[in-house]
Amino acid sequence: MRILAIETSCDETAASIITATDDRIIVQSNVISSQVKLHAQWGGVVPNLAAREHTKNIIPVLTEALTTADTTRDTIDLIAVTQCPGLIPALLSGVSAAKTLAYAWHKPLIGIHHIEGHIYANWLSADRMIIFPALALVVSGGHTQLILMSHHCHYVIIGETQDDAVGEAFDKVARILGLGYPGGPIISARAQKYADTCKENPLTLPQPMRSSGDFNFSFSGLKTAVLYLVKEYRKKNHLQEKDALPEDFIDQVAHAFQSATVDILTFKTLRAAKKYAPRSILLAGGVSANTQLRLSLGDMIATDLSDKELFVPALPYCLDNAAMIATAAYYRHQHMSKEVRESLTLQWKTLQAYAHHPLENVK
Ligand code: KG4
Ligand code: ZN
Repeated sequence: MRILAIETSCDETAASIITATDDRIIVQSNVISSQVKLHAQWGGVVPNLAAREHTKNIIPVLTEALTTADTTRDTIDLIAVTQCPGLIPALLSGVSAAKTLAYAWHKPLIGIHHIEGHIYANWLSADRMIIFPALALVVSGGHTQLILMSHHCHYVIIGETQDDAVGEAFDKVARILGLGYPGGPIISARAQKYADTCKENPLTLPQPMRSSGDFNFSFSGLKTAVLYLVKEYRKKNHLQEKDALPEDFIDQVAHAFQSATVDILTFKTLRAAKKYAPRSILLAGGVSANTQLRLSLGDMIATDLSDKELFVPALPYCLDNAAMIATAAYYRHQHMSKEVRESLTLQWKTLQAYAHHPLENVK
């Protein structure tokens, strides 16, 4: 079946066309127009600016998706769109475009949960079968969750952040260190620079909730620890707020922050895997692009959980994209009742965007 998907939940306007069968997903186009440069001036995503850009970009992005896939609307069997969670003005741009296309082209329409899309990015890249039950570690700009999947499109959240999401913490720490936005890739590069030149990092940062006994996380305290460390450093070295921090100090703090973050994520994933005995472990969300996290989970599985398989999305599918939304739509469509499937033809009338919606409740 051929699916056209749209994703506009945050600051990427994305459209993709996939052809899916149970054996194989072929990505025919995966177009992403990023607004990162625009939002970087403000140090984070401005919802109304994002919506304005989505509205401007959505038609060119859709046109390019169809052209690259070398196809027309006639071959599309299903339209999918990110419906939740996200910034409402941004989500509405994609949802309105998808509803208009579904109405005008007489196509069924399906709303997809953004996090479900990130999880299904693993099915896009997997070179072997993903066997259930699976445990997903979701790490994005808005979410940090451990999720159990007993079968397709069924989710039980067993732990989540009590405050900041891990991607948000990367972004905030980058801001404290005077680095740009988004923070994840820059912190990761700075941490690597430190690791390449220094063997041991004498600086260690706290890992909140490490001994909490549950599968929840907290990253706000870690971010505050970096803030106080930097304040202290400025005071000791007579540096004003406007003065740039020395490069080697930035590298060292970036390394300590990334190490603490990766360590706590790996530690809680290992504990959850020991308790729930999944066959597969999936990494999902924008922070899944982090090399250290990918390596650390790989090492943990090789050492402690060699009977389990780790899946990580291919790099082009880690950050927000519409191919992952199309893939989630395929599996959802395959696993829905005939009645619900038939109702998709009238979704152009009723589909709504939601800022928040629990993944466990998606239908
Ligand atoms: O999933 P995503 O693209 O958007 C949301 O759904 O939130 O994730 C974006 C987040 C940002 O916070 C960004 O800093 C982080 O992913 N990120 C990374 C890396 N690349 C992106 N964090 C750590 N290391 C990276 N290499
Ligand atoms: Zn995302």
